[in-house]
Amino acid sequence: MSILFTAIKMYNLTKAFDFNNIKLMKGVLLCGGSGSRLLPLTSVTNKHLLPIGNKPMIFYSIDKFKEIDISDIMVVTGTEHLGDIVSLLGSGESNGVNFTYRVQDKPLGIAHAIGLTEDFVGKNEFLVILGDNIFEFNMVRIKKQFMDSIKSIIILNKNSEPHRFGVAEIKNNKLIKIVEKPKNPSSDLIVTGVYYYKPDIYAYIRKLVLSERNEYEITDLHNMLIADVKLDYIIEDSYWSDAGTFKTYFEVNKRYGKI
Ligand code: G1P
Repeated sequence: MSILFTAIKMYNLTKAFDFNNIKLMKGVLLCGGSGSRLLPLTSVTNKHLLPIGNKPMIFYSIDKFKEIDISDIMVVTGTEHLGDIVSLLGSGESNGVNFTYRVQDKPLGIAHAIGLTEDFVGKNEFLVILGDNIFEFNMVRIKKQFMDSIKSIIILNKNSEPHRFGVAEIKNNKLIKIVEKPKNPSSDLIVTGVYYYKPDIYAYIRKLVLSERNEYEITDLHNMLIADVKLDYIIEDSYWSDAGTFKTYFEVNKRYGKI
């Protein structure tokens, strides 16, 4: 009798706890671009495969996904070096994750690359990392804040060369707009390539138009989200750098170049 009781109790518990409703967070790792600022290092390989310290650049982002238990990761890259990326990463088994690959045929920008991940992401929340971003953010704290919020969240960081990035304009703690690579930056708060998104952003990506440099701009997407009160920000003080120029590539190697 008591076995029957326990069985009924467990059945009810399972029903009450609807496993299909658990929201999985997915990962998107962007490894496109020609890496022209690092030529000739990038003439025969993808920028994201170059070494930083004792491992390829791409491994740093993968570790960040793993820090917050994101194991379903879509890697988006161009056609040129897809083979090398797959050779290195494989299915993800050796890294304890599960990789899916998507090709961006033409370099049509970051927002376009994110648009290619819609079927993979589905109705889930997701984290996008630009593969040349190296950082030490507290991923667990940010994830908690993001999960408690109904808005997408971008991560800002102070930078001494804001004109090289998207720059955030904030008034009375409110994010007003983002300006991409301004000649005269209004602040030193730059938008890092670490984006926590709700799946509603895909509807906005579909509305984007090509910019003057023939790309679907991530900054245009963010400004559309701001206009609809769907984007929030977190300022992270910990280390962040891109590794896409000789100067920054050298600097991150100095920081992580210990054996
Ligand atoms: C891109 C974005 C820019 C952002 C930067 C972060 O720039 O367009 O807004 O600040 O990534 O790494 P890119 O590196 O493609 O010039």
